[in-house]
Amino acid sequence: MTETEAQASSPEDSSAVESKVPSRSMKHSGLLKSTVINGWPLFWLLSLTLSAFTLIAMSGIDMSSPDGVSHMISRSVRWAVPFIYLVLASAAVPVLFPSAFTHWWSRNRRYLGLVFAVAMAWQGTFIFILSNLHSSYYYEDVYYLRDELEGSSGYLFLAAMVLTSFRFGRRHLTGAQWKVLHRCGVYFLWAYPFSVYWWALYYYGHAESIDYFFYWMGFLAFLARIAAWGKRRATRSSSLQPEALHRSAGILLIILGLSASATGGAWQASVTEILTGPAWSANLELWLPFWPLEPFLPLFAIGIGTWLFTGAFENAESYDLTRQ
Ligand code: HEM
Repeated sequence: MTETEAQASSPEDSSAVESKVPSRSMKHSGLLKSTVINGWPLFWLLSLTLSAFTLIAMSGIDMSSPDGVSHMISRSVRWAVPFIYLVLASAAVPVLFPSAFTHWWSRNRRYLGLVFAVAMAWQGTFIFILSNLHSSYYYEDVYYLRDELEGSSGYLFLAAMVLTSFRFGRRHLTGAQWKVLHRCGVYFLWAYPFSVYWWALYYYGHAESIDYFFYWMGFLAFLARIAAWGKRRATRSSSLQPEALHRSAGILLIILGLSASATGGAWQASVTEILTGPAWSANLELWLPFWPLEPFLPLFAIGIGTWLFTGAFENAESYDLTRQ
């Protein structure tokens, strides 16, 4: 499949975004148009590099011990996380910062997503080794029903997304089904690592600097989507002035959300206690992925704040987060 065909095969292609990028910036994008860093060559370049680093890391680790394999599970997923963040933000960045670079980023999102899949395939391989060769360690020290359901759902999404990234898989879905699958999948696969690092920072209390880095990168990636959505709403409804009360409430919620995103440790315990107070909610926590959603609450607040700020009701017609 050629690069053009590959891009055409993706319903979520970047043509809508492309048309909004100033043509002047495109003239200066010679390097970013190089075939080496676009499409399949970009995919191979990144996949082979991360695979080489994974093999090098493996060579220095005792793979016959469960601790060694567990270490490789963490190691390999760290290669994957930046790519799902890049994919999540890819449609938003050209809206916020139109440039040749953000256009390149958005245009190559399909390949960045496939690189994420390669890195996750490494993690899947190490999980397979751990659960099969060290099953007593796996089921005593690692296995936890809710994590297993979260992780397995993630892999199911990933497999379906990879298969439907190619024409042979895509032809079994309508355009609308494809969009639902890929949007839900990207959100889920972003939510998993984002929440892992949120808990590392605000609950377990022994976060490393890389945990901070991944938490804030994940936060910024989602924030970019909210900001791009807000910008589109504000642009479309420039003639409609939201009520002052809505704008003020919106600003307050955005400030609250931003503050909460940096202070999770201060409110996590009491919020979890409140949210899991009812028996049905405590029960859901045992198996429902991410429930009761503590890591995402600041982003919900920022999203609702943006909605109010950009004219919650005045701008009802352009309420269309899914366009991104
Ligand atoms: C059934 C599937 C899965 C299993 C059994 C599993 C298991 C594990 C294990 C054993 C670790 C290492 C924990 C430690 O060293 O303390 C880990 C870490 C991690 N996993 Fe998974 N995982 C699964 C799916 C996923 C998925 C779908 C994602 C989403 C991207 C993901 C993201 C992560 C992250 C972000 C870490 C932390 C890495 C770090 O230390 O920085 N996992 N997982």
